Amino acid sequence: MNAILLGAPGVGKGTQAQLLTERDGFVQLSTGDILRTEIANGSELGLSAKGFMDRGELVPDSVILNIVSLRLDKNKSFLFDGFPRTVPQADGLSNLLTSRGMKLDYVISLELPVEAIVERLSARRVALKSGRVYNLLFNPPKVEGICDISGESLIQRSDDKPEAILVRLNEYNMKTEPLKKYYEQRIGVASVNADGDMETVYRRVKAALT
Ligand code: AP5
Ligand code: MG
Repeated sequence: MNAILLGAPGVGKGTQAQLLTERDGFVQLSTGDILRTEIANGSELGLSAKGFMDRGELVPDSVILNIVSLRLDKNKSFLFDGFPRTVPQADGLSNLLTSRGMKLDYVISLELPVEAIVERLSARRVALKSGRVYNLLFNPPKVEGICDISGESLIQRSDDKPEAILVRLNEYNMKTEPLKKYYEQRIGVASVNADGDMETVYRRVKAALT
């Protein structure tokens, strides 16, 4: 099954993708996580993406489609988290799937008021290697500053500062929000209320995936 988790920055895409991966065998494909790993490794791709990401802007479509194309050959089904984010990316995904005899089954759009988004992002901490996401207010690690699973130090993402959060929200509204209409006209979109604790949202997402 191939599904897309759409939604504004901080709405909980990564958190839900993590739960669906651990509990239901989904394979998460997060372009944001892949780019952050490339930056941490100091690769050429990472260096080319870093400026865009730090400012909160989208990375060019061609870069993203290359990354996804390479990953698609490694599995048969995916949970796309943070991809696609523009109409050209959505068209690109459609071509990539068709050429592999794959198709998209679900598009889930997580919905949350902007005040809650800003609150969640400001208190987020992440483990870079494992990609695990925590929140100082809503989902703290057992030991302060340390990932429960990998033991690595938690960091605050460089794009979780107020200026970059505003740019990301604006990029979302201008370039990604239109994808809801795009997919409504093609396979349909299930809107899921992301206001609620993680387990409540998880149950709603699961229900939308059947
Ligand atoms: P990306 O990594 O995709 O970031 P994003 O879309 O801005 O989304 P976030 O990861 O910030 O939020 P999320 O929805 O995953 O929320 P999370 O689960 O962490 O992209 C980063 C950058 O990379 C982009 O700005 C761009 O530059 C580039 N990029 C990536 N993909 C790209 C693409 N396809 N095209 C172009 N550029 C691309 O949750 C947020 C916080 O809330 C956490 O602390 C979490 O613990 C907490 N939380 C989650 N759920 C709940 C809940 N139910 N209740 C309380 N707290 C909760
Ligand atoms: Mg994320």
